[in-house]
Amino acid sequence: MKIRYVHLNLLILLLPLINLLFPTLSLAQDYGDDAPKKDTPPPGLIHCNGVYMSYNSGDREKLYPRTNNVTAQAWSFKATAMIVNTGIEEVKGWQMFIGFHHREIIVSATGAVSTDGEFPYDASNGTTFIGSPNTDLKTSIETAGDYDKISTNIEITGTLFGGRGTATPLPKTIKLTNDGWECPAPTSKGGTMEVCCKRNPKFKAKDKAKTKFMPRKKGDLNIVYDVLQAYTSNYLAQVTIDNNSPLGRLDHWNLTWEWMRGEFIYTMRGAYAAEEKPSECLHSKAGQFYTDLDFSQVATCQKKPILKDLPAERKEDNITGKLPFCCKNGTLLPTIMDPSKSRAIFQLQVYKVPPDQNRTAFFPPQNWKIDGIVNPQYKCGPPIRVDATSFPDPSGLQATTYAVASWQVVCNITKPKPKAARCCVSYSAFYNDSAIPCNTCACGCGDIDTDTCNANARPLLLPPDTLLVPFDNRTLKARVWAKRKHMAVPKKLPCPDNCGISLNWHVNSDYTDGWSARVTLFNWGNNAVEDWFAAVDLGKAGLGYENVYSFNGTRLPPKNQTIFFQGLRGMNYLIGLTNGSNPAKDPQVPGKMQSVISFKKRNLGSLNIPGGDGFPKRVFFNGEECELPKYFPKKSYGERLSGIRFFPSILLVITTFLAITDRF
Ligand SMILES: *[C@@H]1O[C@H](CO)[C@@H](O)[C@H](O)[C@H]1NC(C)=O
Ligand SMILES: *[C@@H]1O[C@H](CO)[C@@H](O)[C@H](O)[C@H]1NC(C)=O
Ligand SMILES: *[C@@H]1O[C@H](CO)[C@@H](O)[C@H](O)[C@H]1NC(C)=O
Ligand SMILES: *[C@@H]1O[C@H](CO)[C@@H](O)[C@H](O)[C@H]1NC(C)=O
Ligand SMILES: *[C@@H]1O[C@H](CO)[C@@H](O)[C@H](O)[C@H]1NC(C)=O
Ligand SMILES: *[C@@H]1O[C@H](CO)[C@@H](O)[C@H](O)[C@H]1NC(C)=O
Ligand SMILES: *[C@@H]1O[C@H](CO)[C@@H](O)[C@H](O)[C@H]1NC(C)=O
Ligand SMILES: *[C@@H]1O[C@H](CO)[C@@H](O)[C@H](O)[C@H]1NC(C)=O
Ligand SMILES: *[C@@H]1O[C@H](CO)[C@@H](O)[C@H](O)[C@H]1NC(C)=O
Ligand SMILES: *[C@@H]1O[C@H](CO)[C@@H](O)[C@H](O)[C@H]1NC(C)=O
Ligand SMILES: *[C@@H]1O[C@H](CO)[C@@H](O)[C@H](O)[C@H]1NC(C)=O
Ligand SMILES: *[C@@H]1O[C@H](CO)[C@@H](O)[C@H](O)[C@H]1NC(C)=O
Repeated sequence: MKIRYVHLNLLILLLPLINLLFPTLSLAQDYGDDAPKKDTPPPGLIHCNGVYMSYNSGDREKLYPRTNNVTAQAWSFKATAMIVNTGIEEVKGWQMFIGFHHREIIVSATGAVSTDGEFPYDASNGTTFIGSPNTDLKTSIETAGDYDKISTNIEITGTLFGGRGTATPLPKTIKLTNDGWECPAPTSKGGTMEVCCKRNPKFKAKDKAKTKFMPRKKGDLNIVYDVLQAYTSNYLAQVTIDNNSPLGRLDHWNLTWEWMRGEFIYTMRGAYAAEEKPSECLHSKAGQFYTDLDFSQVATCQKKPILKDLPAERKEDNITGKLPFCCKNGTLLPTIMDPSKSRAIFQLQVYKVPPDQNRTAFFPPQNWKIDGIVNPQYKCGPPIRVDATSFPDPSGLQATTYAVASWQVVCNITKPKPKAARCCVSYSAFYNDSAIPCNTCACGCGDIDTDTCNANARPLLLPPDTLLVPFDNRTLKARVWAKRKHMAVPKKLPCPDNCGISLNWHVNSDYTDGWSARVTLFNWGNNAVEDWFAAVDLGKAGLGYENVYSFNGTRLPPKNQTIFFQGLRGMNYLIGLTNGSNPAKDPQVPGKMQSVISFKKRNLGSLNIPGGDGFPKRVFFNGEECELPKYFPKKSYGERLSGIRFFPSILLVITTFLAITDRF
């Protein structure tokens, strides 16, 4: 009761402060059709005891190209979202979801960053904003009603499609997505949508008492930004990158981010900046502030630096190396291959400019991105403040030291879009003499003149040994094959797959209690691939995995349906494209490696190997997901499977081995 009394009083005190906010609100509303009267706080705000959120749509304007098709017309729009803590409890790391549904593209937003990436980005399925620089909303009680500390205004500009009239359509919903909060359906009136979210009294946070900040999340790549030492004008930060996905990998990684407060990197250890332009420093705010600093020594003054791992030679360098887990030339492997190579660490001395000349003012950089060659594509979230990282005491005592402050960035692997993979798969089978090559344009046809080839045609079926021939030299063989098999050849031939890496999956045998497949890796690039790995998800059939003969194979827990392959020790090197034995006459030859894999059928119910159970559901090479063919080799009716069905499995594997050499 007492609390409510205090709270009401504060709200009354607050009203003039709320009005302070109004210049911005009314700015947005001036454009609207039914803007409420100025200087009245939204009634929902006054009656909310919890977290109040609103979305005010502003005006919109037609963009080019103008079209009569209403759903295809693009519009630019402005909107203001507001979040206010009107409750009695601080809201840490608030996250506001806006359920856009008009193919919105968000071009800018002030006061917040999005968890969906850097502007501009596609928000057609909705988007989540988090505060930046203020991630938390204090209560009016503890701040004596300081409006800047209990609320955030987000000014959004963007593009959307469709709808009639000049009023911007409202989103489907707005809600607070933090754990432990509940929002009723929002109410809409005119151009305003509002909602008052409340604590869910039944929600019990795990270890709530223990963590002051957000709990750490799990993701495919876990990056932690720790502030280790803090001074008035600068601080020492350490970045730790951990590869937590069994299929995650990076080669020659480069990490980029964006400084939001004019900071620059003075020195680095364990990594380097790809571009150093001292002149950029002199012209920056930093250059004007640090008049006595020797900027020729600065690592980089770029707002968006590109950071790379040091090569192994620098490991023992007293100035730039000497850091555990550093200096692997940008290689991050899955733990299953080598735990010592699944982590990278580097340190940086960050200089700050006014108004952040204060030992406790840290603003981690935003918009993190990490990429490499033939790797999975990662998408990173924003840095989230977490409880300080603990480190064992460096002097060896039984003590723990803590970072001054820590943030976590979680990056997840994204599935490549169709025709944008970096590797592809072809199929063949013992019961069908035609192989199904990789999909047309599996790895993109961006640079190809599609006047000369068809980017959407099915690939031509091939005799299996032709898979070994570069695409440009296959045409004649494919034509001859089509003629022999009485298949039609289109006038405009399909385009190539353009993949640097391909895999052939050959179903080798199918008998009563087991089956086998042969996998072949092809490297069509000029450079060798070192420490390669491949992973094949076979669904239910993968549980029957028995052995792989020329690779080192393991089942990936917890489902055990995916089989992970790497080269045997000393044989993990997939060479590149080489000349044929007579370069004038023979086409070039891809680097290749091959092995037979045997499977059992016991206890797996009925498996239809030719019907699809014998073909992969997903295939990965060095973590990158490969594009699979759209259909399987067909088994024609009446074909006799000869005596193969009754061969003992071990004999079968031996015969298969003998057969390998004459097929590829
Ligand atoms: C209008 O545009 C939409 C979306 O671009 C498209 O799906 C639709 O077919 C178009 N309608 C007409 C009549 O052109
Ligand atoms: C939106 O959701 C649909 C269906 O889940 C998905 O296919 C599409 O890729 C999503 N779009 C974006 C931009 O995430
Ligand atoms: C690095 O430091 C060690 C010990 O202080 C010293 O012996 C060595 O010469 C230094 N190396 C270089 C390259 O400066
Ligand atoms: C390190 O990586 C670079 C490319 O980022 C490459 O050119 C160089 O050969 C690599 N060095 C070693 C020792 O592998
Ligand atoms: C230093 O910065 C922190 C965070 O921005 C702020 O809370 C604090 O009041 C500042 N202290 C001084 C002395 O300016
Ligand atoms: C990062 O590395 C990838 C692969 O090596 C390269 O394609 C990309 O251009 C690099 N990005 C930058 C900004 O250097
Ligand atoms: C990454 O995935 C984890 C778990 O699957 C999820 O909790 C997290 O929100 C995701 N992060 C991003 C940035 O997508
Ligand atoms: C996967 O294999 C491990 C070790 O062989 C076993 O403990 C686990 O139960 C298996 N999981 C499933 C889902 O079969
Ligand atoms: C197979 O891989 C595992 C895990 O990386 C390793 O411990 C083992 O020594 C490898 N075996 C061979 C024969 O290379
Ligand atoms: C491959 O053949 C081309 C000419 O056909 C020649 O220029 C090149 O040097 C050869 N490369 C090797 C490694 O033999
Ligand atoms: C293979 O195709 C390439 C590219 O079209 C061509 O330069 C080469 O002469 C062809 N090789 C043979 C043996 O036909
Ligand atoms: C082999 O498979 C292909 C693709 O599914 C099919 O078109 C063809 O008829 C099959 N050949 C035989 C002999 O069954």
